[in-house]
Amino acid sequence: MRFGVSLPEKLVEKFDRRIEEFGYKNRSKAIRDAISDFLTHKEWRISKERFVGSISFVYTHKSGAITHKLIELQHDFGDLIKSTMHIHMGHERCVEVLILSGKSKKIEKLYECISSTKGVENCKLAVLAEK
Ligand code: NI
Repeated sequence: MRFGVSLPEKLVEKFDRRIEEFGYKNRSKAIRDAISDFLTHKEWRISKERFVGSISFVYTHKSGAITHKLIELQHDFGDLIKSTMHIHMGHERCVEVLILSGKSKKIEKLYECISSTKGVENCKLAVLAEK
């Protein structure tokens, strides 16, 4: 199926540069992959299936408040979190990785709570279908 799309010129220039770097011969295959990635990324949010995934983030604990908030959050979502890993990065910075299993809505909710916590940086969510 063919269809026309209007896009800003700068976005198309950047897209063309990148797809060449990634070895695509033309736009069609790159756009197919981009749409497929977009759908995978969006579909899990409306799915009723269970997922396994991880949330990883960096934070700086200048005061004890952030540590307290993050621990409380993790207890609130205790049924979702299967394992946690904490790595100390220097004196004040920490990396934390949470391994999760549960419904997409709950995973998304925990991700929103952690990523919006003041002092949390680089919060990333990765999900996989459980079945
Ligand atoms: Ni630490």
